[in-house]
Amino acid sequence: MSAVQVPPLKIQGIKTKAIPFIRDSVDWDGAGRWIEPFVGSAVVALNIAPKCALLGDANPHLVRFYAAIQAGTVTSATVRSFLEREGARLQEDGQEHFYRVRDRFNDSGDSHDFLFLNRACFNGLVRFNRKGRFNTPFCRKPERFRPAYITKICNQVQRAADIMAGKDWKFVCADWGEILRETREGDFVYCDPPYAGRFTDYFSSWTDKDAEQLENGLKALPCSFLYSMWSENKYRRNDRLHEAFSDYEIKTFSHFYHLGSTESLRNSMTEALVVG
Ligand SMILES: C[S@@+](CC[C@H](N)C(=O)[O-])C[C@H]1O[C@@H](n2cnc3c(N)ncnc32)[C@H](O)[C@@H]1O
Repeated sequence: MSAVQVPPLKIQGIKTKAIPFIRDSVDWDGAGRWIEPFVGSAVVALNIAPKCALLGDANPHLVRFYAAIQAGTVTSATVRSFLEREGARLQEDGQEHFYRVRDRFNDSGDSHDFLFLNRACFNGLVRFNRKGRFNTPFCRKPERFRPAYITKICNQVQRAADIMAGKDWKFVCADWGEILRETREGDFVYCDPPYAGRFTDYFSSWTDKDAEQLENGLKALPCSFLYSMWSENKYRRNDRLHEAFSDYEIKTFSHFYHLGSTESLRNSMTEALVVG
């Protein structure tokens, strides 16, 4: 089993820990397209590494970042010189510089600025306000971009570029419904929407009605799919998921997540993977 590839961008709900579980559950000959309507950090696509892919997300910044890697305008070299320069300014000016970059990004949407903010914001919480502006505060570590950290990020960018090189991958900013309409026989869909009622931001509002429409859309697909959703935690079970997919195989995977710094704040969460 190959090592898990870690992407250069982080987002809430990133599936890095579940990659072996997801990879083992994909039963597909690879002849059609790998389709993800909620591609997020792209960690799943990068680990499946299909020849042909259609990867969508409502968040234009994630899509633009990967399209820039494909186009060669964001490379490991451009990222290194950018983070060395901006990291030195951060060390000198502290939070003032973080907010300068944040304002600049909110005006221009630049992908290098996005990566900088993504890797220097508070708790890695990538959040956009009602106007679609990035509003996470600074992580309060002015020395964030040390040489080893910059090298780690550059390697992640290089790895993503290497995986996509020579492959037919299309990144699009679209609502999930538009992407699902594109599916054909022989494709394979991996769906990882936001969790209803959990943390949401401008690009990730998700209601029970959205969940119901997606469930119906998945059941009507002309190809196989995997659907990631939470199954249960300490407090409750996702009854709607189990009811909606009672005729399907539902695999589960448990892990711990931290709500704070101490061991007692560790909570267990069981994730589901519906196999369709
Ligand atoms: C749970 S995350 C996906 C995580 C991804 N599998 C990963 O491991 O990084 C959900 C994603 O859905 C996107 N999203 C939210 N609402 C959407 C919509 N209506 N259509 C398409 N994408 C949407 C969000 O921007 C977010 O990137």
